[in-house]
Amino acid sequence: MEFLDKLVIPQSAHHMVLLKYLLVLTFILFISYFSVLFGSTALSLYFNRKARKTNNKTFSRFSKDLIDLVTFNKSIAFGLGFIPLLSSAFCYSQLLHQTQLKVAEFILISLVFYLFGVVLIYVYKYSFHLKDIFGYLEGKNILSTNENDLILEEAARYKTNSEHLLRKSGRYGLIFFIVAVYLFLGAVNLASDVDSWKDANSLFGILFSLRTIIAFTQFIFASLAITSGYFLYIYFRPNSDKKISDEAYSNYSKKFLLTTGLIATLVLPLVIVAGVLLKPVVSLSFGVFGLTVILLFIVLLLANFFYFMIKENEVKYSSSLLYVLVLFFVFAIIKDQLAFDTSTKDQFAVLADNFNKYEKKERELLGGVVEVKINGADIYNGRCIACHAFDHRVVGPPYNSVLPKYEGKEDELIKFILNPVKKNPDYPAMPNQGLKPNEAKAVAEWLLQTYKSGK
Ligand code: HEC
Repeated sequence: MEFLDKLVIPQSAHHMVLLKYLLVLTFILFISYFSVLFGSTALSLYFNRKARKTNNKTFSRFSKDLIDLVTFNKSIAFGLGFIPLLSSAFCYSQLLHQTQLKVAEFILISLVFYLFGVVLIYVYKYSFHLKDIFGYLEGKNILSTNENDLILEEAARYKTNSEHLLRKSGRYGLIFFIVAVYLFLGAVNLASDVDSWKDANSLFGILFSLRTIIAFTQFIFASLAITSGYFLYIYFRPNSDKKISDEAYSNYSKKFLLTTGLIATLVLPLVIVAGVLLKPVVSLSFGVFGLTVILLFIVLLLANFFYFMIKENEVKYSSSLLYVLVLFFVFAIIKDQLAFDTSTKDQFAVLADNFNKYEKKERELLGGVVEVKINGADIYNGRCIACHAFDHRVVGPPYNSVLPKYEGKEDELIKFILNPVKKNPDYPAMPNQGLKPNEAKAVAEWLLQTYKSGK
């Protein structure tokens, strides 16, 4: 994808720091949002399948509530998914400019999968509602009267179709999401793994690296934890307007989510530690270790929230739980980006140097001069004009009266400028102007030329 490279201009060290902050921000938006989308899709599909097998209304409702969790508004998928993902691709293409790394390209491919996934998941969501409508008609026995056979047949066909659509779109949507996450995490890992920059540009290198697998595992468990937390917050927090009245359903979903959250937060520390142990040595620093400790502490806190809510069988801490979950994502991302920053220090030093070269070249193109050429006119305007004019007396004599004797004797003029000696009794002595020899030469040349052309 050449076009990305064309959009890139070398960045100064300053801009690169800004780009890195931007990257952290886009990741926080994208990863937290996508985790909930991913987790709720996966769980919804799981319960949809369960509902089909057991014909259980609780499962079916749970499945629907799960998918409605984050798909209530399409612009969210755009604002929190598409835009951050696209900006992170641009950040990477700027940051890793001239490394031949395909990180930005991989993220763009992942973006395509994400978009297809989102479309399919929305189809899944809508076919759920269609299914409900058919279910309602069936319940009212409208579809089983023999009044109108044609409509009956048609409706039956639509019902099967929409059920197919439901199953297929959901399943494919999830597959697209998995590919999107996997590619994204692979690309991000590649960026911070300087050792493999030379040869790991192939898709396979990314997909089968242990680091990517660990990152993916962490994503899955984190997404289960945040989906549980978010669902509990939306439906179970004390002042929620979506409170579930059906007790059996409420109990079942509560228990399931709390247990899932607890298991996920108990597994997460293992994955996090494994992730740090697997990180390239160059990317480790005290900062990374410190943040890992904080992260483990946060996960412990989360596990405690889940545990106490299970024990007390009451969703008490759903708000705090959600805040801490967001905190978890923020710290996890800062930790990974810090590792990226540490491991790419040399790389960025090279890039900053490239920037300086680039800037020099641009200046050459724009101004034609790189090293400031000493300019006689400038020196005259800066130093001599206070006491000299060409045609009249100021403090010193008019140039037109003194320059004739220097015509063809530039060297003598230079000598005088460098070391003025008393000349004309009508004037005071000229103070030494402290010019360097090349400056004196430039101004002397300029004076003689200007005098000559003005004659
Ligand atoms: C502070 C005032 C002052 C400044 C500034 C000054 N000059 Fe002069 N300059 C004089 C005076 C006074 C004389 C007359 C000296 C004399 O005749 O002994 C003079 C004389 C000269 C002469 C004539 C010398 C001669 O052979 O008669 C030249 C040429 C000259 N200045 C060049 C320069 C140039 C070039 C600069 C700027 C780099 C400069 N001056 C800056 C005061 C100044």
